[in-house]
Formats: sequence, structure tokens, C-alpha cells
Amino acid sequence: MASTATRIGKVELASFVFNAIGPKDVTLDELRVIGKSSAAAIATKSCTPLPRDGNEEPRYRDLELGSINSMGLPNLGVDAYVELSHTIKEEFPDKPLIVGAAGIGFEDFPVVVEKLQKSAADMLEVNLSCPNVKGKPQIAYDFASMDKTLKTVMSIGDKPIGVKLPPYFDFVHFEQAAEVLSKYDLEFLCCVNSIGNALVIDPETEAPVIRPKGGFGGLGGKYLKPTALANVRKFYELLGDRFAIIGVGGVYTGSDAFEFLLAGASAVQVGTVFMQEGPKCFERIDKELAEILKRKKYASVEDAKGKLKML
Ligand SMILES: Cc1cc2nc3c(=O)[nH]c(=O)nc-3n(C[C@H](O)[C@H](O)[C@H](O)COP(=O)(O)O)c2cc1C
Repeated sequence: MASTATRIGKVELASFVFNAIGPKDVTLDELRVIGKSSAAAIATKSCTPLPRDGNEEPRYRDLELGSINSMGLPNLGVDAYVELSHTIKEEFPDKPLIVGAAGIGFEDFPVVVEKLQKSAADMLEVNLSCPNVKGKPQIAYDFASMDKTLKTVMSIGDKPIGVKLPPYFDFVHFEQAAEVLSKYDLEFLCCVNSIGNALVIDPETEAPVIRPKGGFGGLGGKYLKPTALANVRKFYELLGDRFAIIGVGGVYTGSDAFEFLLAGASAVQVGTVFMQEGPKCFERIDKELAEILKRKKYASVEDAKGKLKML
């Protein structure tokens, strides 16, 4: 079997697949489930300065080809994640720990990132792309605001920082985002968050399938994969020599993970499939990837990374 060991910046991962930030990673018990699984790392829910209940239920729905959610960032608050990060690190010392950081307003980000300097996190993933909080635009869709946020958080402490980006759909936006990102010494880019503000209607009930925001929510799963692949590929072309890229969006199988690897990803995260299949998905997907690498005679993931062939 070929090895799927990889690295994100300076952090070594024993395999290629771990959990996307958000699904089933809010509480200590949920994080222990990920710790005991074959996930290559443990990633925690994006946290805010204070605990949040999030939006009203129902706020998540499985769909035929993925999921829709409008969670509204339910989390225990940053202090709880600082504390539980030490417990998780003691219990799972060999697994890299990535703690998610978010904000409702710009001023939340420095508060959270500052506090997380005292956590046991190996890296922080700063969410610039939460699509589901009422009345707030996504920071990463406003390049001046993205620049201001990065300038602030990158001046705090030593923890390696990566960013979670939303999907972009326009070549000029990729270039403008890359111009801002290239100014900072980031550890990784995580592409992509769900496609924001989709609407799924149930014709039987004649109502949306989730309640918050009139039914508008973030789309994940198979609907997202081609867009996620395009984002990984474009940022790999623009910034692949500077930053590791984590692919996320519609990874269900080893073949999906292999496609992200060809596009330029150094690792993949899985969200919807983890919600639907539970923690055994990490080992299954990683094994399927290892078999593909072996069949195609790639000795390592590094060998195949970014090697998309052009027609
Ligand atoms: C229930 C749920 C909660 C999520 N919460 C967050 C979050 O707090 N921060 C974040 O950056 N992304 C969050 N996401 C987005 C996922 O990390 C991921 O980008 C998205 O679901 C696409 O991956 P998938 O197709 O594997 O689901 C959430 C997704 C779901 C389904």
C-alpha cells in the first residue's frame, strides 16, 4: 500500500484525510471521537469570543447529493477551546490539533486569536468565510476587510495560521484574493467553505428544508466538489509555491481525495460525509486513496500533488 503521509506547512500528518471544521467537532466528547478515529488530525469548530447557541432548528439537512446548513456558529466560546485543547493534546499527543477561529464582527478575530495563543493547538484555522450569520457579509468576499483582518491576526503571537476561504467563481476574484493572501506568512489555505446562501425547497411541505434566514444556507457535499476542485487548482497555480492547500468540498471517496491531490491539495477535510457516515469514513477514504496511488504507481502523495494533466 502506498503511503498517504503528508504535511501542511511544518506539520506532519500520518495520512491524508481529516475532519472539516464544523460537523461534529464542537464538544470534548465529539473531539475524542475524532481523536480515536483514523483522522490525520483533529480540527475543532470555529470559535467566537463568547459561547453561541447558533441559529434556530432545523438548521442542517442531509440532501440527495450533500447537505445544506445554516448553523450560525454554535460553539462553546474560545475559553472552552483553550482549555479542552490541552486535554485533547494530552490524550492524543501524536495527532496535530487545528483549532478553528471565527468572528461575528471584525473586532472578534484578534480577541479569539490572542486567546488561542495559550491553547495547545499546532495550528489555527481562521474562518474568513462563515456564510450563515444573519446580517454579516463574508469577510473573504470583501478584499479590503480580508486584508485588515489578516493584518491584525497575523501580528498576534506565533501559532501558525491558515485561512478558510469561501468558493470564488471569477478569475479576477481569485487574483485579487491571492494578492491579499500573498502579503502574509500563512501556513495553509483551506478551500472551500460551503457555497453560501443556497435554497432547497421541499415541494410536499411547500417550505424550505431549514428554518434560519428564510431557508437560505450553505451547500456542501457533491454539489460542491467541482467548485472546490477549481478553487484548490486556481490557488495552487497562483500561490502553490507559498502555501499548502487543504481541499474540502464533496470528498466522499478515495477517488475524490485523489482528484484534490491532482489539483494541488496537500490534504483533504471531510464534512458532509463525516456527518452521514461517522468516523469510519476517515480510514475508508484514506485506504481507497492509498489503493489508487499504488495502482497508478505513485510512491507518495508528494509524487502526485498538483500533477493534473492538461488535455
Ligand atoms: C454542520 C456544518 C457546520 C459547519 N461549520 C463550519 C464552521 O464552523 N467553520 C467553517 O469554516 N466551516 C464550517 N462548515 C463548512 C465545512 O467545514 C466544509 O467547508 C463544507 O461542509 C464543505 O465540505 P463537505 O462537502 O465535505 O461538507 C460547516 C459545515 C457543516 C455541514
